[in-house]
Amino acid sequence: MLLPIVRWIAVSTLAFGSSVAVFAADQAPKDQKQAAPEIAAGGTAKPLVIAQHHMVVAANPYAAEAGRQILRQGGSDVDAAIAVQMVLNLVEPQSSGIGGGAFILMFDGKTKAVETIDGRETAPAAARPERFLLPDGKEREFDAAVNSGLSTGVPGVLAALKLAHDRHGKLPWKQLFEPAIKLADTGFIVSPRLAKLLTEQGPAGFNVEAKTYFFDAATAPRKAGDMLKNPAFSVTLRAIAEGGPEVFYKGVVANQILAALKAAPAIPGDMTAADLAAYTAKLRDPVCIAYRGFRVCGMGPPSSGGTAVAMTLGMLTNADLVIGATPAPGNPDALFDGANAARPAALIAEAEKLAFADRDQYLADPDFVPQALGLLSPAYLMSRAKLIDAAHPMAKAAPGTPPLRAGWLFGTDATIEHSGTSQISIVDDDGSALSMTTTIETAFGSRLMAGGFLLNNQLTDFSFQPVDANGWPIANRLEPGKRPRSSMAPTLIFGPTGDLSAVLGAPGGSRIILYDVKAIVCLIDWHCDAEEAADLPGFGSRNGPFEVEKGTTAESKLGPAAAALGETIKAVDMNTGVHIIVRHNRALEGGADRRREGIALGD
Ligand code: DON
Repeated sequence: MLLPIVRWIAVSTLAFGSSVAVFAADQAPKDQKQAAPEIAAGGTAKPLVIAQHHMVVAANPYAAEAGRQILRQGGSDVDAAIAVQMVLNLVEPQSSGIGGGAFILMFDGKTKAVETIDGRETAPAAARPERFLLPDGKEREFDAAVNSGLSTGVPGVLAALKLAHDRHGKLPWKQLFEPAIKLADTGFIVSPRLAKLLTEQGPAGFNVEAKTYFFDAATAPRKAGDMLKNPAFSVTLRAIAEGGPEVFYKGVVANQILAALKAAPAIPGDMTAADLAAYTAKLRDPVCIAYRGFRVCGMGPPSSGGTAVAMTLGMLTNADLVIGATPAPGNPDALFDGANAARPAALIAEAEKLAFADRDQYLADPDFVPQALGLLSPAYLMSRAKLIDAAHPMAKAAPGTPPLRAGWLFGTDATIEHSGTSQISIVDDDGSALSMTTTIETAFGSRLMAGGFLLNNQLTDFSFQPVDANGWPIANRLEPGKRPRSSMAPTLIFGPTGDLSAVLGAPGGSRIILYDVKAIVCLIDWHCDAEEAADLPGFGSRNGPFEVEKGTTAESKLGPAAAALGETIKAVDMNTGVHIIVRHNRALEGGADRRREGIALGD
């Protein structure tokens, strides 16, 4: 992260410049294979982008450009995020939108304050802990639960963005919807990734509105390069631009959501008008940890992401585990090659195992479950770090007994986590910064569309089992009005003087924690630039096998070396989309993950 200025100047000649590369209709099919996230480590390598004033990194060029336009108009980081989110909802509908939830971290460049907003979905008042169990007590099949009205929580994205705008907005609310309304009216080019996911998933399970929008009359999916308009979403956006979130939570859009849930093809939902009207986004305390002279801040519960990332870093730093020398510039994954290469990665994976064991046991919605406040105490982290021995990896770590934990113990977690999420990273002209991870949970969420947008399936992030085999209640069990535990980990990093150093985050279900740790270590310990850190082959452990990213040097080099240390290796696709901005004194450096369609744009 602390690169000499001369290197930024060299790489800046590779930057995209000021024009945005949207998908050209005639090129899209050719690019399809390259850009599809299902290809492990696939996608196009992207240049590091350098800017002086402001920057946006988002998962789709249309969205990043919308954010940059707002920043050029004098908008704040929050203003830009609203425009980005609305365009993402249109062009990357499978991943995020107003039918879903989000966590937002904000750094105020003037006051230096860090705020976090919890825009997580809530379970309807009628929801019960056994919601995802069949009458015989067996769990519902995961996909059947997803594709039903039961999986949809009360959406939080709009309420979260409104709260952020009330605190840090500069431009009028209405203006921030203009880019998405224009694109919904005039049409956008379907991206290769959206087309590929539609082809893979097929029309089954989508409600009529979604099926008609995503497939033609013969149920062929929209193709990469097709021009697609979304008039229903344009109407929704105009109503929210004029009337604010009230329209969504109490007005015409609320009625559309309830109608879609009631008419869900498989099992109807039980959300009510009162559930929607009662939704509130919440300001929460950030979770921060000191790491090698930096301060790394993330999202607290109901996300487990910030705590698990902080625990991992805290174990590494408190135990003074030296996790590796600086690799040759421009080739960070050379770390995986050569003698002792596996040791740094194995140390990280051991710390992750311990962090996952604790987060599974203790973390859930803090308004329902007393939190284990001692998880981040230095003494506890030191005691956990002492369990780490890279030469003798743990098959599975047990949860610890942190100080100040809840007065009663929780059962062993049984939450299933799947992948449909997007990371927005922004720095504005005032030096304020925003990291937002936003999701409708699995790709296309519940597959129910209302008002031109998809509804989430976030409630399947609860444990399907309310109690464990011993009858202990599971912390992340479903309860009415509760927010499901998340792994999303939007992150801000501050330097020794308290100035902003980096903005980052990632999609990818519970592997988000591994992706963030990998990127942070790459930036801070291994002196990667933003693009290198985003692209670094994935590795780590969620308290099971040592996972390596298929088709990369993590699989070919690190895997065998870690196996020699005694790790059980599992090669998997790691279809994340890590989006990073690094701030140096005089420049912003942006990196968009090669695995997805994102782009960094700045001025
Ligand atoms: O909140 C969570 O942890 C999950 N619902 C996130 C899902 C996700 O990241 C999907 N990613 N591609």
